[in-house]
Amino acid sequence: MLNQPATASPIISLEHIDVTLTASAGPVEILRNLSLEVTPGKALGIVGPSGSGKTTLLMVLAGLEAINKGKSVICGHDLTVMNEDQLASFRRDHIGIVFQSFHLIPTMTALENVAVPLEFKATANADQLAASALERVGLAHRLTHYPGQLSGGEQQRVAIARAISAGADIILADEPTGNLDSATGKTIMELLFTLQRENNTTLLLVTHDHDLADKCDEICEVRDGRIISARVPA
Ligand SMILES: Nc1ncnc2c1ncn2[C@@H]1O[C@H](COP(=O)(O)OP(=O)(O)O)[C@@H](O)[C@H]1O
Ligand SMILES: [Mg+2]
Repeated sequence: MLNQPATASPIISLEHIDVTLTASAGPVEILRNLSLEVTPGKALGIVGPSGSGKTTLLMVLAGLEAINKGKSVICGHDLTVMNEDQLASFRRDHIGIVFQSFHLIPTMTALENVAVPLEFKATANADQLAASALERVGLAHRLTHYPGQLSGGEQQRVAIARAISAGADIILADEPTGNLDSATGKTIMELLFTLQRENNTTLLLVTHDHDLADKCDEICEVRDGRIISARVPA
């Protein structure tokens, strides 16, 4: 990122990465020669037109999308040399993801939605940890509710609780307010920024909302699979 002290070692380091997907019409270059460094504890806003590669970039950082070229080192792990099992444990240990459409399991309660990934991690007291994460996002009174019984804002709070409950180092938020009305979206973002500061988490926030991006420590703009600018908000 810009203006970082020379001594700060980045938590995210992408060097000249390419992502090329094969479509029926032939190969499509999704990310091209993209490099990015993020200092721990910072919030990076990512803006850019639809289809420019923002979601793909987050998926690369989560180890959910493979790169075809370049180097990707996240939390000290070189993702390019890891197999699927190693990538899955990397995600469990380091990454929390918040999606626009919440991605909760409809047949599970709020508590179960948060606890299940913790159980995969073989965490002792998964239920207690999940309950405390839900309490932290203001949902102590909704533990046994199903997603269908919750408002959009409450569902996103569950998703945030799930993302933070295992102590993720990096939160990837892909248009987290995109399905919420503006007042609810604002509250959700205040919550995300507060948790980020309290936990000293690194946050990557994809958003169409430039006012929201301005609340980040830095903003980069993606276009046609490349980062075309990076700046500190005024
Ligand atoms: N699985 C896929 N196969 C082929 N093209 C894809 C696939 N996923 C995404 N794309 C294309 O990659 C480009 C970037 O997509 P995406 O990362 O979702 O952009 P954004 O999040 O900025 O809207 C788009 O042109 C999209 O159509
Ligand atoms: Mg997207």
